[in-house]
Formats: sequence, structure tokens, C-alpha cells
Amino acid sequence: MAKEQARGSRNQDITLDPWGTVEVKDYDRLLKVFGIKPFSDVMPLLKKAGMEPSLHMKRGIIFGHRDFDKVLEAKAKGEPVAVLTGFMPSGKFHFGHKMTVDQLIYLQRHGFKIFVVIADAEASIVRKIPRKEAIRIGVEEYIASMIALGLDPKKTDFYFQTSRGTSYYRLIQLFAGKITTAEMEAIYGDISPAKVIAALTQAADILHVQLEEYGGYKWVVVPVGADQDPHLRLTRDIADRVSDIINLTRPASTYHRLQRGLDGGKMSSSRPEYTIFLTDEPRIARMKLMKALTGGRATAEEQRRLGGIPEACTVYDMDKYHLMQDDELSRIYNSCRSGSLLCGECKLLAWSKLEKFLDDYKRRLEKARDIAWSIVDVPKF
Ligand code: TRP
Ligand code: SF4
Repeated sequence: MAKEQARGSRNQDITLDPWGTVEVKDYDRLLKVFGIKPFSDVMPLLKKAGMEPSLHMKRGIIFGHRDFDKVLEAKAKGEPVAVLTGFMPSGKFHFGHKMTVDQLIYLQRHGFKIFVVIADAEASIVRKIPRKEAIRIGVEEYIASMIALGLDPKKTDFYFQTSRGTSYYRLIQLFAGKITTAEMEAIYGDISPAKVIAALTQAADILHVQLEEYGGYKWVVVPVGADQDPHLRLTRDIADRVSDIINLTRPASTYHRLQRGLDGGKMSSSRPEYTIFLTDEPRIARMKLMKALTGGRATAEEQRRLGGIPEACTVYDMDKYHLMQDDELSRIYNSCRSGSLLCGECKLLAWSKLEKFLDDYKRRLEKARDIAWSIVDVPKF
């Protein structure tokens, strides 16, 4: 068994389940247990590759990577670099998704070719989402949102898993001959035929962009939440194992901290009270934000005396992930800590930014929906 896989996903009481609902809490342990490298290691290499660190990199939201140093070195030498990431079309587009798209936009501006897969096969076989629904959500919620946020549709290859070319499906079959049931169980725990196919399809998503038909040789990085790491480890091993038949380079990956929901739990379409969608009516979005869990104290008097805890605050998360510039963010941090800013006022600062964003976004989304239907190969059944 190859060395990455031997470490397994169920290891020293950390379980990573890409289909589960458990949150990753201890990021430092994750680095140690699974051999993900701290992102700070590659910060000095960005400049050589002609890149300024992105907001997420500077703010520690992107915390880890595998082989991203190799991608940056290749880019510095002028070799072709690309990004591939994917979304399961299982609900409405929310601020957690926006964070990944912001990374794609940043990388697109720095010359990375962008591939985005709508994981509709996975949505229907693992999550049992009706086909028509998965397709509509894929186009109108996901692809349209990405265009509205600023991803250039002319330079992005958006595709559905169920309408890609033959060579992509050929990879899935080829990969099936290179794995054993025991390995799949070691990585994913409880495994079913649907999950095996979903995992191999995801490996094909990541690796097929190196095929001639999709532009040939290139370095590929996959930006994901840490829960997707089992798929990355499997894909890296598979790339090694098919080398007798086809030459595929192991993919690199970067890992971000998933933004929490507004109660501090998981942000998810299935928890709409604690998740702000980009299409929320202003009144609804405002209400969610005003009720959000903060790091404030029980009384105003106590907060003035002791200060708040921005690290524990989901409003501060919105500021940090999406809403504030560097100087604004540090001002909020310091005045929260010192007790000079109270939560009510702080929420209004966040709301004034969010209100503008949502208003502007609404107009851009309308146009983007038409574009989205016209640029993607929509699955037939
Ligand atoms: N499994 C991913 C999810 O649950 C979606 C996905 C499919 C994906 N193919 C991918 C993510 C390739 C990254 C790379 O959201
Ligand atoms: Fe959060 Fe702002 Fe309250 Fe501090 S003052 S705990 S950042 S809402």
C-alpha cells in the first residue's frame, strides 16, 4: 500500500468523513496526523511566482497544503498551472461557498486555468437529490453565482460530472482496477458502491485535466475544506498507480478553514437559520446577522470592562472572511478586545457592508443566470 494511504483517515481519534457532518476543530492536529504542510511554508514562494498573498492566505484561513510549493515553483518557471475544484449541487449558494470561489477568482487573475465541476453524479447517487433539481441548482445556484462573483466565464471550464467526454469516463474504469475494497474501507470507513463510484469520479475530476483532450500536461491544485482530504490522498495514490499506462502528475491541494454557521455550528444549506445565502432578502439576512452568536459578554458593563472575544464570534467571521478590508478588520479586532466596541454597534457595521454587497450581487446574478445556461453542457437525463 502506498505511503499516503497507509495513514488512513481513521487515525488517532481524528475522523475525516467527506460525506459526514462532523466539523474539523483541531487544525494543528490535522497537520500532524495526515502530513498536510502548514501554508506558512509556501508564503515566501508566492512572490517568485509573481503572486501577492490573497486575503485568505494573509488571514490564516488557508492553513495547509500538499505540494503547493511544487506548483508555485513550476509557475515561476512558466509552466502551465491550473485549479480544479467541485461543488455538490445540493442546496442554495451560501457564504461558505463564496470563500472557495474567491480563491478561484484570485488564482484566475494570477494566470491559473480554472476548471469547476458540478458534482451532480455524486449528488444523485450519494445524496439522492432528484436529477432535474441537481441540474437546475448546478446552473442557477452554483455556476451563475460564480459568474456573478467575478469568475470569468470565458476563461473557466464549468462542467457536470454526467456530461463530460469519453476519456474522463475511461479514467474512472481504469482507476477501479487499481484499488481494493480494504483500502477504500481504510480511507472512507463504511463504503457502498455509490460511494466508491463517487470517490473514483472525483479522482477523475482532479486528474483528467492533464489528458491531451483537456489541454495536456499541467500542474493542478485543488482548493478544498479539510474534510475532502481523504479524496486527495486516494487521488494521489491512484496517480502513482496508473503510471504504467498513463503519465499523470500527483495533484497539489490547499486546505481552508470552513466558515462556521451563525450559531457556531456547521454552515450548511440544511441549516438555513444559521447560514446566510447570497440570495437572501435583505430583511432575512439582517435578522440572521442580528441573532448571530458573538464573542460578547453577558452585559454591556462587563464587555466594557473585559472586552469581547472576536475569535469566538461568528459576526467577526463574516468580517474576516468576506466583509472588511485589512485596516477595518484590525480596528474591529482591537476595539472589540479593549471593550470600546459593543456587539450591537459592531453588527451594524457588518450589516452596512453586507447590505451593499447583497444589493449589488442581486443585479449581477440576474444577468449571470442567462450566461450560465448558455455556457455549460447540460446533462440530458
Ligand atoms: N465531493 C465534493 C463535495 O462534496 C465535490 C467534488 C466533486 C469535488 N469532485 C471534486 C471537490 C473535485 C473538489 C475536487 O463538495
Ligand atoms: Fe463580535 Fe463585534 Fe461583539 Fe466583538 S464586538 S464579540 S467582534 S460582535
